[in-house]
Amino acid sequence: MSQTTEIWTVRDVLNWTAQRFSALELPTPLLDAQLLIGFVLSLSKVQIYTQLDRPLIEAERSQLRELVRRRLSGEPVAYLLNQKDWHDLDLFVDNRVLVPRPETETLLDLTLAVCRHENWQPQKILDLCTGSGCLAIALAKAYPDAQVVAVDVSADALEIARINCERHSVKNVELVLADALAPQVQAQLCSKGPFNIIVSNPPYVSEAEWMACDVSVRSFEPKLALVGGEQGWMMPAALFQALSASGLMEKAELLGFELGLAHPEILARELANTLTLPFTQPLQLLACQRPVWEFPRDTWFAVKDYTQRSRYLFAARSKAQ
Ligand SMILES: C[S@@+](CC[C@H](N)C(=O)[O-])C[C@H]1O[C@@H](n2cnc3c(N)ncnc32)[C@H](O)[C@@H]1O
Repeated sequence: MSQTTEIWTVRDVLNWTAQRFSALELPTPLLDAQLLIGFVLSLSKVQIYTQLDRPLIEAERSQLRELVRRRLSGEPVAYLLNQKDWHDLDLFVDNRVLVPRPETETLLDLTLAVCRHENWQPQKILDLCTGSGCLAIALAKAYPDAQVVAVDVSADALEIARINCERHSVKNVELVLADALAPQVQAQLCSKGPFNIIVSNPPYVSEAEWMACDVSVRSFEPKLALVGGEQGWMMPAALFQALSASGLMEKAELLGFELGLAHPEILARELANTLTLPFTQPLQLLACQRPVWEFPRDTWFAVKDYTQRSRYLFAARSKAQ
């Protein structure tokens, strides 16, 4: 897209942008092109296609050129637009925080589904490693009478979570800047609890996996949000141990964690003697599609994602307890 007086229409810039993204083998070239063009021209996807013959003025072309340049360098579209649609939330994001992923929508869906099925109205909810605040805000909106505590060790991430709380007008989320692994922080959380629900999407990528990540992840997203130790399961394991030692885990009615591939089984093995909810039987592996009313109670179970890979570790107490 040159800086000439030549006329460039929406159709032209759509083709040009998508082709450039394709040539670089970006995973979703057309979608990225639509998002950037829609952003610059304030058009929805449908409007892009109803205005294909609209010419762009130079200021629009120049803004688009700059965004395309940044995208070609690997910067995630969500950072370019400062926006990510996640579940039913429109979130502000920038490079101070992890871009919330679809996998985490499944963690939220499973958590909500169990609560709905049990007709639970949680009063206190804890979201550890909150990042953009996506889980905390979605749960705060689902349960407006509940008090949600959202913890992150990164002041930058919490600033984004604060922006998102304001954006969604949620008043029932308390943001806590703290290291969730620290015993004194766990003690502080105990004084705010006990929590009916504890959810977390902690950093769980290994150093080796991080090194192999795409440039859009490695060069742009905060490493602190991704890497969970030399072996990625180390941070989640430490989190489980901290929650167990403080007694928060024992008192929760529903625990839901997003983990890396095979981590549920690794954690079950590594932590069999530590965790307070019983491993009375071998860890049960459930497919995600399995109805939540079939989820076992008073034991840990791993849930598979839609690609049939074990990705979530859950525990739910029976009503009697
Ligand atoms: C994988 S991101 C998850 C963010 C968000 N919950 C989501 O699902 O998009 C992990 C988050 O954990 C935070 N974190 C890393 N170590 C932590 C610790 N020791 N205590 C609290 N938060 C931590 C990072 O700053 C990051 O925001």
